[in-house]
Amino acid sequence: MVAKPSMKTILVTGGAGFIGSAVVRMLIARGDCHVVNLDKLTYAANLDSLTEAAGDPNYHFQQGDICDAELVKSLLAVHRPQAIMHLAAESHVDRSIDGPGAFVQTNIVGTYTLLEAAQDYWQGLPSQQRDAFRFLHVSTDEVFGSLPAQSRFNEDTAYRPNSPYAASKASADFLARAWHRTYGLPVIISNCSNNYGPFQFPEKLIPLMIIKALKSEALPVYGKGDNVRDWLYVYDHVRALLTVLERGAPGESYNIGGGCELTNLEVVRKLCQCLDQMVPGSGHKPHEGLIAFVQDRPGHDFRYAMDASKIKRELAWAPEENFESGLAQTVSWYLDNRWWWEKIMSRQYSGQRLGLGAKA
Ligand SMILES: NC(=O)c1ccc[n+]([C@@H]2O[C@H](COP(=O)([O-])OP(=O)(O)OC[C@H]3O[C@@H](n4cnc5c(N)ncnc54)[C@H](O)[C@@H]3O)[C@@H](O)[C@H]2O)c1
Repeated sequence: MVAKPSMKTILVTGGAGFIGSAVVRMLIARGDCHVVNLDKLTYAANLDSLTEAAGDPNYHFQQGDICDAELVKSLLAVHRPQAIMHLAAESHVDRSIDGPGAFVQTNIVGTYTLLEAAQDYWQGLPSQQRDAFRFLHVSTDEVFGSLPAQSRFNEDTAYRPNSPYAASKASADFLARAWHRTYGLPVIISNCSNNYGPFQFPEKLIPLMIIKALKSEALPVYGKGDNVRDWLYVYDHVRALLTVLERGAPGESYNIGGGCELTNLEVVRKLCQCLDQMVPGSGHKPHEGLIAFVQDRPGHDFRYAMDASKIKRELAWAPEENFESGLAQTVSWYLDNRWWWEKIMSRQYSGQRLGLGAKA
């Protein structure tokens, strides 16, 4: 890829993952910037999610680790991005319970490595480019810990992470904040609620349940299924990230959420109703009959709910999908794209239970 000087270049980390690949697809479809995707290609990555972007002259893929300081430094020197969107992470709570080491390495050490390289690069830019540069650190609502009924997380809520995943993301957020406060790097932090949509790795709740139902397997709901999450369709998250990147203020953080609180059991029931309609010939109607309650996740946070009023008020972002419309599109995508998930289920992950605390 040879960048036209008039076009912006964005370095996306973790662009072969679920949300990162949606960011890459949307940026490439917009056609107004060059995208450099740095991804280690862990088990969670999938280049099949990027076939739309792969042949585009504005797209460049680099396999590599964000912990590799020399690689990150040389990527910045060669591609000279105007922004970094940092999404690379170990992202599954259950896996963080079984093996926290990889979470500490990628989410904390990797973010530190990226911040250091970005800081050096940014300091060497001419002043106009230095002013325009942004480092968007993409994080989660899980850093805030568990909520009692009624209240919601806002940008001033104290961090109380409970799982190793949440603790590693909270640490990374603090590093990102410190690199802004201490060194002036124009960092913006976003904290988003649970995402769902096409191309999500089958270990996560919604794709796992769709795939298990299609394979006529039991639908394992943790505990009583009464844990509450706030759900957001992945492309609404991507639009929020691009809005924050373009209009957010350095040093600020923005909460992103769908305003759509549901218990896990409600999510699985809605999904079963969708399948009842979309797979009329299924031998398992109603699919709710497949639900089976299983041992809860250790330390399972009871409730997350986001107050997204700041991003709505200050940056005029709002989700375009509600849960019903987003879920229908998601179920229909998994029905139409069996090739995508069947390959994963035969090679990387076959739907087994994770996160019972048997450390790897
Ligand atoms: N999925 C959600 O619901 C959600 C919600 C809020 C925030 N987030 C955050 O958004 C980001 C993306 O989440 P996701 O669900 O797309 O994750 P994902 O697990 O699907 O993808 C992560 C990507 O990062 C890459 N990666 C991992 N370690 C790396 C390393 N050391 N160097 C380079 N690349 C590496 C993986 O190969 C993978 O492609 C994460 O930072 C996550 O914490 C996710």
